[in-house]
Amino acid sequence: MTDGPTTDPASPPPPVGKTGTDAHFGEAGTDAHLGEAGTDALAGLDERLRAAAELVQADRHADIGSDHAALPLALLRSGRARHAVIVEKTGGPLAVARTAVQQAGLQDRATLHLGDGLAPLGPQDLHSVSLTGMGARTMLGILGRGRAGGRVPGALVLQPNDDPGLLRGWAQEHGYWLVTERLARGFWRYPVLRLERHAGPDPAYADLPADAARRYGPHLLRARDALLQQELSTQLTRLEALARHGRPQVLHDLNVVRAALAVIG
Ligand SMILES: C[S@@+](CC[C@H](N)C(=O)[O-])C[C@H]1O[C@@H](n2cnc3c(N)ncnc32)[C@H](O)[C@@H]1O
Repeated sequence: MTDGPTTDPASPPPPVGKTGTDAHFGEAGTDAHLGEAGTDALAGLDERLRAAAELVQADRHADIGSDHAALPLALLRSGRARHAVIVEKTGGPLAVARTAVQQAGLQDRATLHLGDGLAPLGPQDLHSVSLTGMGARTMLGILGRGRAGGRVPGALVLQPNDDPGLLRGWAQEHGYWLVTERLARGFWRYPVLRLERHAGPDPAYADLPADAARRYGPHLLRARDALLQQELSTQLTRLEALARHGRPQVLHDLNVVRAALAVIG
């Protein structure tokens, strides 16, 4: 398995009207061109990986920390990626991924690397990258080291297991817009974000309370997402109980939840 040809890395910025919780990616702004096989190829994924797959449409896509390679294989089978680059930092998961690629007969469309984050990738040779099933701080480390090497592409699909506010903040600071986001059910409620490089302030945050939008998601708030409402209700109960002890961080977090609930109405 070898690296394929370099292609134009820049994902075109999305029209603002197509951002949000239900934005589509792909030709003509719909998934229709993928057909039934494209949809079926995602059927074996759990809800969080399926949500991540639905936010990818790329010629060359890299999945960092693939482990079992379920996401990149589904992207190839569904036609959401023509070529997948798989990166793993440890040999065991990489061997699992390599076996899965071979069993799927997709060796010609996948490149596997042992390495840290974006380091094994050539500068600017990808349309998009996904990071799923990791902590937000691990992702920030990968993105920070990747930026230093000029290896962060124009589109990112991120599914952190915790603290998505850190990643929304990173996007605001580093010239990426949050073009869509979803919550997926699983052991927790998992946020899944698609970021795209774009100049200027991200319009998703306009007229929203900044801390609440960064912590809970501007598109999810505007959509009054049902899973987000459950999350806010859980957090409100938890934080109101803790607030009796008067800890400043708890009081701050409680105010952020109340601001988010005020948006949802
Ligand atoms: C919990 S698994 C998630 C697997 C899969 N992405 C998913 O969402 O189901 C995290 C994987 O990321 C890999 N990983 C963590 N940090 C990494 C890094 N800096 N570079 C490459 N792989 C990394 C780990 O080896 C592990 O296989």
